[in-house]
Amino acid sequence: MLMQSSSIFLWLFVILSPCFDRSSATAAAAGDRMPASIVARHGVVAADHGLCSTIGRDVLKEGGHAVDAAVATAFCLGVVNPASSGIGGGAFMLVHSSHRNTTEAYDMRETAPLRASKNMYAGNRTLKASGALSAAVPGEVIGLELAWKKYGRMPWARLVRPSVKIAQDGFPVSRYLHMQMTASESGILADKGLRHVFTSNGSLLKPGTLCRNIKLSETLKIISNSGAKAFYNGSIGLGLIKDIAEAGGILTREDLASYTVKVREAIVVDVMGVKIFGMPPPSSGGAALALMLNMLEQYRDLSSISDPLMAHRKIESLKTAFALRMNLGDPDFVDIEDVLKDMLSKSFAKRMKMLINDKTTFNSSHYGGRWNQLYDHGTSHLSIVDKDRNAVSMTSTINAYFGSKFLSPSTGIIVNNEMDDFSIPTTNISTSEPPPAPPNFIAAGKRPLSSMTPTIIFKDGKLKGVVGASGGALIIAGTTQVLLGHLVRGKDPLSSVLAPRLYHQLVPNVVQYENWTVPSGDVFEVGAEIRESLKRKGHIVQGYGGGTICQFVVQQLTGPNAGQLIGVSDPRKAGFPAGF
Ligand SMILES: *[C@@H]1O[C@H](CO)[C@@H](O)[C@H](O)[C@H]1NC(C)=O
Ligand SMILES: *[C@@H]1O[C@H](CO)[C@@H](O)[C@H](O)[C@H]1NC(C)=O
Ligand SMILES: *[C@@H]1O[C@H](CO)[C@@H](O)[C@H](O)[C@H]1NC(C)=O
Ligand SMILES: *[C@@H]1O[C@H](CO)[C@@H](O)[C@H](O)[C@H]1NC(C)=O
Ligand SMILES: *[C@@H]1O[C@H](CO)[C@@H](O)[C@H](O)[C@H]1NC(C)=O
Ligand SMILES: *[C@@H]1O[C@H](CO)[C@@H](O)[C@H](O)[C@H]1NC(C)=O
Repeated sequence: MLMQSSSIFLWLFVILSPCFDRSSATAAAAGDRMPASIVARHGVVAADHGLCSTIGRDVLKEGGHAVDAAVATAFCLGVVNPASSGIGGGAFMLVHSSHRNTTEAYDMRETAPLRASKNMYAGNRTLKASGALSAAVPGEVIGLELAWKKYGRMPWARLVRPSVKIAQDGFPVSRYLHMQMTASESGILADKGLRHVFTSNGSLLKPGTLCRNIKLSETLKIISNSGAKAFYNGSIGLGLIKDIAEAGGILTREDLASYTVKVREAIVVDVMGVKIFGMPPPSSGGAALALMLNMLEQYRDLSSISDPLMAHRKIESLKTAFALRMNLGDPDFVDIEDVLKDMLSKSFAKRMKMLINDKTTFNSSHYGGRWNQLYDHGTSHLSIVDKDRNAVSMTSTINAYFGSKFLSPSTGIIVNNEMDDFSIPTTNISTSEPPPAPPNFIAAGKRPLSSMTPTIIFKDGKLKGVVGASGGALIIAGTTQVLLGHLVRGKDPLSSVLAPRLYHQLVPNVVQYENWTVPSGDVFEVGAEIRESLKRKGHIVQGYGGGTICQFVVQQLTGPNAGQLIGVSDPRKAGFPAGF
């Protein structure tokens, strides 16, 4: 049934899409004709690129743990989706072990260099947003290695090797990557390293043409043989530091050598009949998701109300969560205990629900926010379940498209611009915006606040789902809507991912409704009934041609198909899942 609805969708898409050319290499490269939803018995990998889902699936088939598959899939994504993630960045990863009955939160987020300080940008947002000075210390390679040391069953080299080959032989540029390249064209053309990999003869590589990164392939080869120490305490790190220093950055060898992965306690919330594990700070994702769901749970009629009323309540709970989340920061630097306790508490959620009025919306100050918002950027999310029902939910990032827009020439690594996720003191006090959030100011060794929301769901003690999304500050809204669609509104996993999304970031006080013609040509647009109803309640609504990409895996827990897995990769990015 699911397979059917998915292929119907894709056929409609084939017929309706003006740009779809069935014979073109481009379409095949983007994987457009693979189903966005699959059914599998043993294991599933849902990544935002089909090639990487397949590589992860093969690892599961050989008996690998979900963490083994996550390592292989994440390295692959860093190669074929280089605008969104990679070893020059960081990640948050939830790991559920069915054997131990534990869910751990791996914080491998990029970290402010030891020479960083609160006023290092002197209010200059440009310097904070791109170039080598916007780089924070990468955490992905060592984070993956640490989780693999605990859970992995397959040799490390086996997991990295497929990505060495892809970087060396090249991969066809997908239409989505091409869109990201076009959006970053001036940055790519201005950087020698990026130009070398992503242009040919002075212009951007076209969709379907092969993209190679030979230096990255050499780097990955060393990592496959020697592990993370080559990066943090070895030749790769030395090359990277030298390149960054020459480009004006402040990372040192000591920054790499002292990087630590933090294994944190996951956030847990019992809500709507399920137990949800989420990412704790420095991500605001888990706490915001928990607060929204706890607020919405107070309504007894959620499954039966109209779509427009549901949309209004979702937005109002989202605005509340956004107001509160800016009080969060790196728990190793700021005391966030009370805020976090509030955001997870049922009684607090009850009080916050009183702020919602079904007939009207309010201006931003109504929701109690004190600080301006964080507008973070692109990412990549993968969801994995293995045959033992271990699970991984991982969101990785280099922050903006192509991170700092700086590719380290000696290593082929695209360097993140994660420093842009810190708030900085402003010199010109603007009256139209709240002040920047002190809990998220820069300090040496601190990790910036994030919106990433990797999530794992249980029902009656059994694994029920794995979900998360990419899309920066919009991730919280995207993930919550997909979850609500399935858990509360009775949509099947694919339909809950396909449903057009609504976003709100509190500041500015505007609803952004999805109206996105994605690079493959398909259109996602919120319907007129919802838009008009929101306007009548006083919302300012604006179309938005972008948004989140969500990967969702669900285990059927009842009925004749109990134990069956359904994996969905968001068709917005034309990825596809793989299972067996
Ligand atoms: C697993 O742990 C959860 C708490 O996180 C508990 O509710 C559940 O009963 C445990 N399951 C088993 C089989 O011990
Ligand atoms: C910020 O720094 C950039 C790069 O050095 C410079 O071009 C720009 O003029 C600076 N902006 C301000 C407002 O100082
Ligand atoms: C590169 O561009 C030049 C000038 O536009 C052109 O003469 C040449 O044929 C191009 N080479 C390739 C390999 O496309
Ligand atoms: C680098 O090597 C030093 C000295 O052996 C060690 O203390 C440190 O943990 C290593 N760093 C990383 C990130 O592996
Ligand atoms: C927001 O609403 C409050 C209460 O209705 C009002 O006092 C305040 O002036 C409003 N602020 C703005 C910026 O409109
Ligand atoms: C959606 O965007 C298209 C342009 O891409 C525009 O023509 C259309 O009017 C928009 N629809 C809505 C409801 O905003």
